[in-house]
Amino acid sequence: MEMSVIPIIRPDIGTPEIDLVSQVLFSGKLVHGKYAQLFEVELASYIGVKEALLVANGTATMHIMLTALGIGPDDEVIVPAFSYVATANVVEMVGAKPVFVDIDRRTFNINTKLIDEKITSKTKAILAVHEFGLTADVTGIRQICDQYNLLFLEDAACALGAEYYGLKAGSVGHSASFSLHPRKAITAGEGGVITTNDSIFAEKCRLLRNHGYDPVKGKTGFEAAGFNYRITDFQAALAYSQFKRFDDIKQKKEAIAERYLEEISNSKVELPIIPKGCVHSWQSFHLLLNGISQTEAIAKLKQQDVEANYGAQCIPAVNFYRDKYKFESVREFPNAWNAFENGLVIPLYAQMNAEEVQRVIHSVNKL
Ligand SMILES: Cc1ncc(COP(=O)(O)O)c(C=O)c1O
Repeated sequence: MEMSVIPIIRPDIGTPEIDLVSQVLFSGKLVHGKYAQLFEVELASYIGVKEALLVANGTATMHIMLTALGIGPDDEVIVPAFSYVATANVVEMVGAKPVFVDIDRRTFNINTKLIDEKITSKTKAILAVHEFGLTADVTGIRQICDQYNLLFLEDAACALGAEYYGLKAGSVGHSASFSLHPRKAITAGEGGVITTNDSIFAEKCRLLRNHGYDPVKGKTGFEAAGFNYRITDFQAALAYSQFKRFDDIKQKKEAIAERYLEEISNSKVELPIIPKGCVHSWQSFHLLLNGISQTEAIAKLKQQDVEANYGAQCIPAVNFYRDKYKFESVREFPNAWNAFENGLVIPLYAQMNAEEVQRVIHSVNKL
């Protein structure tokens, strides 16, 4: 019998999503409307914040966030050296300088012990990532932010549903950014969310999302040179419909992750760890290889029709950052480099059936 390829992720889209999207399309009201607004209210309540704003994508979300905070040329923002490049790109986009800090070897999150030495008089914020859906060291980051009067910003792109001692990711910093890209737990195709408890900041973000326009001020009410980073209402409806089933999606992913943690056993593979007080959202299940190369592991898994790939970039090692700042990543960011070279994401999504889960476990155990 021919086996089908198990992808790393498969968006969970069924009849309810298609029906709701069709309804919006037939309504003719296509731009940020009823479903975007409904979703914003319910997301804010789920995350435990005053405000949630839907935006075109997760990168736009952080671009708005940094702009609204007035971060720009001559400012520095601390970011982890291991993440998706967008985390650093948004800092460059506002003309500021991303200052990279190495990660913890096992959690893949920013190593808070290494932040102090990177702080200068120009540092304005720490943009911490909850990598792969595991919350960063929130206590450590808060202490540093309090001590140096910095803003704590969360890149929570992967972390919908993740928790830190009972607090949801997206509620622990000044503001947070989520992504609704198809690789995330729920998707709008493309989409993003800003969350915050700061209503004045949220108002600025609302303006920047929509050409700087404040409808209350009438036809001259363009108050800033804003972006068009709105989401369409059919995209919002797609993600909203999945959000209604999010608890179920999350539980199914958790059950698969638990099986991986219990049943993957191979001396060449280090399993992810979950520090005390953290609830992982299992956006990605990221292994660390030790004794087999990433290329060989990907090729071997492919032979079993199991897709796998590296998890995120060692950002200072990608061409743009390496050439601009002359980094030597192997020496300067050894853990980020190791994760980039030896990290491996294996399939994890809610609709995986028992045979698929078993095949992934078996194939990883045979590496
Ligand atoms: C950690 C992180 N930050 C930012 C982004 C960017 O999000 P988007 O693709 O929605 O722009 C991603 C997307 O994968 C991500 O993983």
